[in-house]
Amino acid sequence: MISQTVYTETISVPSSAASPNRVNRMHDATVLDEHLATHAIALKSISKSFGSVTALHQTDLSVRKGEFLTLLGPSGSGKTTLLNLIAGAIGPTTGVIFLDGRDITSVPPRERGIGMVFQNYALMPHMTVFDNVAYPLRARHHPAVTIRAKVMEALDRVGLHGFEDRKPRQLSGGQQQRVGIARCIVYSPAIIMMDEPLGALDKNLREQMMGEIKRLHKDLGTTIIYVTHDQEEALYMSDRICLMSMGQIAQLGTPDELYFQPRNRFVAEFIGESNLISGRIIGDGQMMIAGNRSIAVPCSGCVEGSDLLIMIRPEKVQISGTDEPFKEDSNVLFGEVAGSSFIGGMTRVAVNTENGLNVMAKLVSDRAESRPEPGARVRVCWSSSDVVVLEK
Ligand SMILES: Nc1ncnc2c1ncn2[C@@H]1O[C@H](COP(=O)(O)OP(=O)(O)OP(=O)(O)O)[C@@H](O)[C@H]1O
Ligand SMILES: [Mg+2]
Repeated sequence: MISQTVYTETISVPSSAASPNRVNRMHDATVLDEHLATHAIALKSISKSFGSVTALHQTDLSVRKGEFLTLLGPSGSGKTTLLNLIAGAIGPTTGVIFLDGRDITSVPPRERGIGMVFQNYALMPHMTVFDNVAYPLRARHHPAVTIRAKVMEALDRVGLHGFEDRKPRQLSGGQQQRVGIARCIVYSPAIIMMDEPLGALDKNLREQMMGEIKRLHKDLGTTIIYVTHDQEEALYMSDRICLMSMGQIAQLGTPDELYFQPRNRFVAEFIGESNLISGRIIGDGQMMIAGNRSIAVPCSGCVEGSDLLIMIRPEKVQISGTDEPFKEDSNVLFGEVAGSSFIGGMTRVAVNTENGLNVMAKLVSDRAESRPEPGARVRVCWSSSDVVVLEK
């Protein structure tokens, strides 16, 4: 198993807090060190097994106050498990959960003050929009006059003023999800968790709701933990992304870090598109690749003779005629266009190089008559500074 602490912030926990004696900890919600106090949530050595299935391997993860953190990853990678552990819907197999510096590992879900927004909206069909949104306030015994004011404010925030008397079935999918969000923000939880909230919406509506959720986050300043398997959603919305794979954190960082400095093959391939080239270091920042070609790599500490895997994003690859000039620090390969696909603003061009690689370039689109045609002889090149060295 890959060590989780390599990619996450480590937190120090007094040994008493890490003690397996849950009963004592439940009654002694100790304020822990400064790190915990500045973070909305801190998970220490959290894991979850269901029988023989390990849904989440031992993980440390901290979420800053006011942060928009996205759990991103393929199906079955452990996103919902992690969310459910924080919400308290399931208990951990090992580890401790801190909320605002307090150990809440044994605190029941309704006492954690965490709001949830679900993919399937989870609205009550027989109740009006007003009553759905008022529900959490009534459950907390707020006075009627406060309830009215807060519900109207929440509906205003999500653009549903005037929809109070409708039933959920009289609303579109996007409107139903707005009710779900209003029902969550109406009681001002310090933390909001959203599990694939836009999964059921079409592309246009999803994009619109992405903007609205981002605006809400800015206005409310609430800590949001957001789950999606859509990388564009994650890149657009998040302060940081926690990319998960097989019940572990593959990488935790800003959208920029994950896109431009992916740590390994999994991250490079999950976020965006990538050209991966393997080879062997032959010294002095040079790597030998297929066909005994040598290319420059930014790897000062690399040991001669060691294997290396590098990545170049397709939009960093240039394609030109074989006799056009090129920049001096570029890596150059010659080849033949295998195919090109026009996808609107961008055109993907696949090139089979003479030394046996398949290199993909993503170019700003030209009209059909100016696009590279299959069979055309071309030169592909990329700058050494656009090469990312990956962990094997
Ligand atoms: N109650 C359970 N019993 C047994 N296995 C479970 C249970 N809940 C989850 N798992 C397993 O744990 C793993 C992680 O599941 P989880 O629901 O966290 O994935 P996910 O990342 O949310 O996936 P998706 O994108 O499909 O929602 C999966 O292999 C799943 O089958
Ligand atoms: Mg899930």
